[in-house]
Amino acid sequence: MENLETGICPSTLVEDGRVHRSVYTSAAVFEAELDRIWYRDWLLVGHVAELPEPGSYVTRRMGRQPVIVCRDRDGRVRVLLNSCTHRGATVLRPGYGRARAFVCMYHGWTFGLDGRLASVPMRDHYGPEFREEALGLKEVARVALYRGLIFASFSDDAPPIEAHLGEARRFVDMALTDDIEVLGTMEYEYRGNWKFHMENTIDGLHGIYLHRLFGNSGLLSSGNSLDLGNGHAGLMWRAEKAKGESGRLMGLDTTDTSPDTSRTIVLFPNTGLVHIQDLINLRIVMPIAADRTRVFTAALGRRSDTPELRARRASQLSAVQGPAGAAGADDIEVFEALQEGCAARAPEIDWLDFSRGERGSSGDLTDETGVRGCYRRWKAMMAVSQADRGRSI
Ligand code: FES
Ligand code: FE
Repeated sequence: MENLETGICPSTLVEDGRVHRSVYTSAAVFEAELDRIWYRDWLLVGHVAELPEPGSYVTRRMGRQPVIVCRDRDGRVRVLLNSCTHRGATVLRPGYGRARAFVCMYHGWTFGLDGRLASVPMRDHYGPEFREEALGLKEVARVALYRGLIFASFSDDAPPIEAHLGEARRFVDMALTDDIEVLGTMEYEYRGNWKFHMENTIDGLHGIYLHRLFGNSGLLSSGNSLDLGNGHAGLMWRAEKAKGESGRLMGLDTTDTSPDTSRTIVLFPNTGLVHIQDLINLRIVMPIAADRTRVFTAALGRRSDTPELRARRASQLSAVQGPAGAAGADDIEVFEALQEGCAARAPEIDWLDFSRGERGSSGDLTDETGVRGCYRRWKAMMAVSQADRGRSI
């Protein structure tokens, strides 16, 4: 059943229009994903608005590896492995804040904002071979900014970020202007595979059935499911004015009815960008195991917002997103149902259907055009042999 152990390449578990259940359940597939996707590709690790001044930091994960995303004394954004070079403990506990230096709680080794080992207690107890300069926090190979998004990659061979984002840049540009601010953040875990979140973000059909509030509020209308290349994908649809009590409940009651103002984007593999009328929501997906995923989500606004709009955008974080949100609660429930259900196995049902809609790069809003693009990229990356990897650490 677990194909990797029997020597079957995991890339054969995805075909155009169908996906084998084991890509969600197999620990061996998950390990291969870490090596071939999570430790090679560009990953979103934050937004510059989270780091307003020198010393600002957030903790994140890149695959299984904990990282610190921070702004050093010169204002430069750095991504450091959150692992003390003494005995390996995480130097910062999960969270965010501002620091003058990073002090490990175990034995007090102290690192500068640039990762350098700044001081060690009772330094004179070490011999002449002890070299501080070799014991700084390891820096992740590549860091790149695009529209305030902070991307990092363990691979020296990762292409320029603009080339990686390709056509998806156009959609990022529409949502993320230069005056973005973070209005609130949340992190949660669900008992399901990371790809369920990827699929769901660009699933234009489920809203009508799973999110009855959205279905009734008139938010869903005609639009497109788009394969943007490189595994990136999106939905774009005409924004109708939110109607009735459900629209108000979600804080989506808005006068902005211009066409094409609603879109949800996946930047493969770990970014979700949701821009529905005046809701701007950024998500960073961080896999823990085949059946466990952590999600960071941030409500974004613009510095030019009126106090009323700012309050509405902020309230959307808890009203719409996360385990208690009007949409988040539904989605998380279904992620766990998917994980549990995918344990059911028989040759006749092992392949799951992703064939809805015409082939090509653009389909109807409810088609599975975008998600097929995500899986094309997944398949291509999973087919790369380990010898070909460009990992730096
Ligand atoms: Fe960090 Fe010892 S593990 S100081
Ligand atoms: Fe949903």
